[in-house]
Amino acid sequence: MLITDGALQALYIALAAVCEAGDIVAVESPCVFSVLEVIRVLRLKVIEIPVDTQTGFDVDVFTHACAHNPIKAVIVTPSFHNPTGIFLSDEQKLALLNIAQHHHVAIIENDIYGDLHFHGQRPSTIKGFDHSGLVLYYSSFAKTLAPGIRLGYLSAGKFLQRAEQIKKGFIRQEEAGQLDELSLPSVYLVFGNHPKAPHYR
Ligand SMILES: Cc1ncc(COP(=O)(O)O)c(C=O)c1O
Repeated sequence: MLITDGALQALYIALAAVCEAGDIVAVESPCVFSVLEVIRVLRLKVIEIPVDTQTGFDVDVFTHACAHNPIKAVIVTPSFHNPTGIFLSDEQKLALLNIAQHHHVAIIENDIYGDLHFHGQRPSTIKGFDHSGLVLYYSSFAKTLAPGIRLGYLSAGKFLQRAEQIKKGFIRQEEAGQLDELSLPSVYLVFGNHPKAPHYR
């Protein structure tokens, strides 16, 4: 498990651990804008997978996309997806996991809203069903405690070693006195054309 500077840094590290510039990732449509900004910074290509307001992430479209494209990773928010608020059943989660495993596609699971359930058992996670290490799970305390504390985490599965290397890159640059530049990619992501933007590219 890696501690990160919010969920966005966790997503950045997860994507960078799995992909190289030019690779294709599958992304929920619609999704939060900041996710697309991380993808843009890493120069990845996107295939949109529709999220229906009643039935959620379209597993059939994802299956078709995997069969016809060399997709490296899929970014999903199975619990209380933003902006639809929909969550996936365990059957949908398992179906998604099976397809991803079949096509060797890493699942980058965003669980930032999972702890916001109001009653009953906490929603399950895809990570909880996975034994292959193909699922990278991330979250933060932005929605449960306070956005300002910038505390996130990433469980990177079989990509842990690579994720640690990428995280060390952030730490080294912080130690070199570039904290203002690298305190988190989201500073740049949120504020757009940050003057130090090339450091993230
Ligand atoms: C789906 C999703 N992922 C990531 C984030 C960013 O989280 P953090 O502030 O911990 O970087 C948000 C914030 O609104 C979000 O809605």
